[in-house]
Amino acid sequence: MNADSGFARYARPELARLLRALRLDVTYLAGQGDHLTQALRDAEGHADAEGQVLDLVGGAGSSLFGHNHPALLEVARRCFDEQIPFNAQASVRHGAGELAQRLSAVVGATTGASYVVTLGCSGAEAVEGAVKHATVEHRRRLGVLQEDVEVSLRRVRRDGLADVPCASGPGVGRTCAELLDETLDRIAELRRTDPVFVALRNAFHGKTAGAGTLTHGGNVPADLKVPGPRHRRLDDWTPQAVVTALDSERVPVHLIRVDAAGVPHSAVRWLSPVAACFVEPVQGESGVHEVPAETLAALRELADRHEAALVFDEIQCGMGRTGNFLASEGSGVIADYYLFSKSLGGGLAKISALLVDANRYVPEFGRHHTSTFADDDFSSRIATAAVDLALAHSDRIVEIGALLRDRLAEVAARWPDAVVEVRGRGLLLGVEFSLPQPDSGLLREVFDSESLGYLIAGRLLHTHRIRVIPTLSAPTTVRVEPSALLERADVDRIAAAFDDVAALLSRGDYTTLLDHLTVPPAGAWQPPQHVPLPRRDRAVLHSGSRAGVPRVAFLANMDVPSKLWHMAPELADWSDAQCEAVLDRMWGELDPFEVTRHRVTSETRGEVEVVMVAAPFTAAQANAALRAGEGAWLRRTVLDAVELGVSLGAGVIGLGGHTSIVTNAARDVVESDIRVTSGNSLTAACAYDLVRLQLAESGVGERRVGLVGAIGNIGAVMAELIAPHCDSMVLVGRPGSARRLAAVAERLTAHQVDVLIAEDLHELRDCPVVVSATNSADPVILPNHLVGDRKALVCDLAVPGDVHPAVASLANVTLVSGGRIQLPGMQTPHFPGITLPPGILYSCMAETMLLGLEPETPSRSYGGLTSAGVLAARDLAVRHGFQPARIVSDDVSVQPWIVDQFSSLEEQIG
Ligand code: F0G
Repeated sequence: MNADSGFARYARPELARLLRALRLDVTYLAGQGDHLTQALRDAEGHADAEGQVLDLVGGAGSSLFGHNHPALLEVARRCFDEQIPFNAQASVRHGAGELAQRLSAVVGATTGASYVVTLGCSGAEAVEGAVKHATVEHRRRLGVLQEDVEVSLRRVRRDGLADVPCASGPGVGRTCAELLDETLDRIAELRRTDPVFVALRNAFHGKTAGAGTLTHGGNVPADLKVPGPRHRRLDDWTPQAVVTALDSERVPVHLIRVDAAGVPHSAVRWLSPVAACFVEPVQGESGVHEVPAETLAALRELADRHEAALVFDEIQCGMGRTGNFLASEGSGVIADYYLFSKSLGGGLAKISALLVDANRYVPEFGRHHTSTFADDDFSSRIATAAVDLALAHSDRIVEIGALLRDRLAEVAARWPDAVVEVRGRGLLLGVEFSLPQPDSGLLREVFDSESLGYLIAGRLLHTHRIRVIPTLSAPTTVRVEPSALLERADVDRIAAAFDDVAALLSRGDYTTLLDHLTVPPAGAWQPPQHVPLPRRDRAVLHSGSRAGVPRVAFLANMDVPSKLWHMAPELADWSDAQCEAVLDRMWGELDPFEVTRHRVTSETRGEVEVVMVAAPFTAAQANAALRAGEGAWLRRTVLDAVELGVSLGAGVIGLGGHTSIVTNAARDVVESDIRVTSGNSLTAACAYDLVRLQLAESGVGERRVGLVGAIGNIGAVMAELIAPHCDSMVLVGRPGSARRLAAVAERLTAHQVDVLIAEDLHELRDCPVVVSATNSADPVILPNHLVGDRKALVCDLAVPGDVHPAVASLANVTLVSGGRIQLPGMQTPHFPGITLPPGILYSCMAETMLLGLEPETPSRSYGGLTSAGVLAARDLAVRHGFQPARIVSDDVSVQPWIVDQFSSLEEQIG
């Protein structure tokens, strides 16, 4: 097993799958400054070359000094050379002490305060530390107040004032004891309530349970969030809204002051469960958004109003990334706690720091708050050196950052329809792209807001050797966080690369933009973890559709990869192989989507609107997934497509192609208010009619029918229908299917027909009529199965076809596509991906439409097919003027239903 499959299988399955889909599944072997050495691989995943990549991801903002900065490596080396102990918990740690002192001094130089520093190992750990410290602080403050009030109560009692009413203040007229008792009750109540934490809209503070609560994570599935501390998110950033946002949480309590004359007066004090307000002065992960200075000032006021701690999370924006050591410096607002991580580790160490204003620090906190690896000398020494580097590079960061921003802003100005905005300062920049609006539903699905940034990242990597990633919660924003060592020449290169991408987006040149995805993927496909699509309100949408023209949804997968062109004409330049590579790569990445919708009119009464919904897989992929035991995943994908159809207001869901196969002939689609159909009854009815006619014209002895795929749902019912009309029948199945074929044959005994069971397609040689209905993605009937002098009619019901195209050119064979129907009255709606002659549709789709035309008619194509159901579907088609089409090569003729014979047969079947 190679290292890649280890990552995909044992480390991060879903991420690995996503990276593979987007061709971002690269490995970096070495890093120096702003450059990474990429292991380039051939299609099998073997390394065969190396390439240099300019890295703008910068460790999600951790590599402010690039990869492996020599000064920091030197510190690390010294640590190893000196053999400093990595573990020396509960001892005096000089490295930690030196770093803490340095951070206190550097931050204090701006704020004028002094800090006690709690070191940790990750950004989230610093956030958790702040949550915890603020909670302790909050509880302690309430405890102190409670003690004061208790003393106050004892004092008024001692002094005989307990029952004396207050002379002034909000509690005027009420007795001292009454007011103080009430105050104690309220304090006790507040001490029992969990503290509240405040964060901003789009905030990012980490992913641990507590920090994760403060993180907005708008695009994280709800069930991946776990309840953390109580919190409030401020969506409105205007100062007035921020200051008053939590006023309803405030609780008034009365305090008593006794004047020199011994008269009690009341005063009010407001208490609050709010323990801390968190803010990133520049929001990084949500797409690089500067929080305005007025909002920071308002947060200061809010915190003061609630006696809460104001926490500046400078984990990403601080440590000099914006030029100043504190990103908040320019605002003039001073926080109580500061958080650092990322660049603090100099790109070599995992370290974070929580700075608490020494005046607020709870001394026992540091005795009881522990983290095994915190305070280690290795990380601390590197961090101290990183702080020095940050201070030394501040001018350069401002200068090169401004240059880069200007150049990117020029790109934005040149392509205003592709680039929304360039944001940020220093070396924390974000480029927001606009979501393109391709014509085809397929490309609109490809370019959804979650993928755009990653598709751009792929183009930049493979064409320009530049590495970016979008921000997690704003994936249309690509973040640009290079190191302070970035060269001017690199700036030119970055600008040119962004210009190329913006130009492609602006011109809608998707073929070029996505070209990097047309290389076959390395490694095995794994199904994605299933995340259900957000459910929409079924009831409302569904009843809405009842009022107007009835609506049906027809679900279809792609039969062959080259159908990509039909679904997305924008990609017409791609070869078959490229289409196949893209589909294999993106498999599982796309959600079901609406392809198109059309109205179809009955010959006799009414109209129906058909919405075509794509189930995003090909027939070959479906078969591969079934073979690999991933049927459950496929089924969920189809159920998602069903859900989309229902949410679009469909009263009938038709399952075309493999969507019925993977849902167990539709049985797994469980609905009560809407009808579900595989459409296979009408498919069988059309084929039956074609074959029936042929047999009626054949002489005795000539009526021998070969049936391929007889154990399938359609095949089995075809056998039953055809049996009364032929002398003998050959049921052909794949090797190993003899027992199941025998069961089909068993059901035919009443018809007195000779039945032969075969596992070899050569047995078709003696059959003047051949019907084929397998689920195979590839042709199963080849020319050598049919060559000879005997004339044969081959009716292929399968989509994709069962019969090899070369069979059509055999002189003795007439190849008819079965299961095709003509719409009444020359209607020719165009459904992308259905490449039939104008006005001709697949019968399964037609059956879906027909059920839409007759809201009271039940579906006869749910689960196993029956002969009676097939005839009922035929009658349904008759009632609305849909006629079976006989397509031989490109020659289309309509063959009227053989209604009379049918009727007598219907009686016969009963
Ligand atoms: N706070 C901020 C502002 C952050 O940007 C991050 C991480 C954290 C806290 C959490 O730090 O990951 O070390 O626990 N931001 C990364 C990003 C994940 O992609 O921007 P962590």
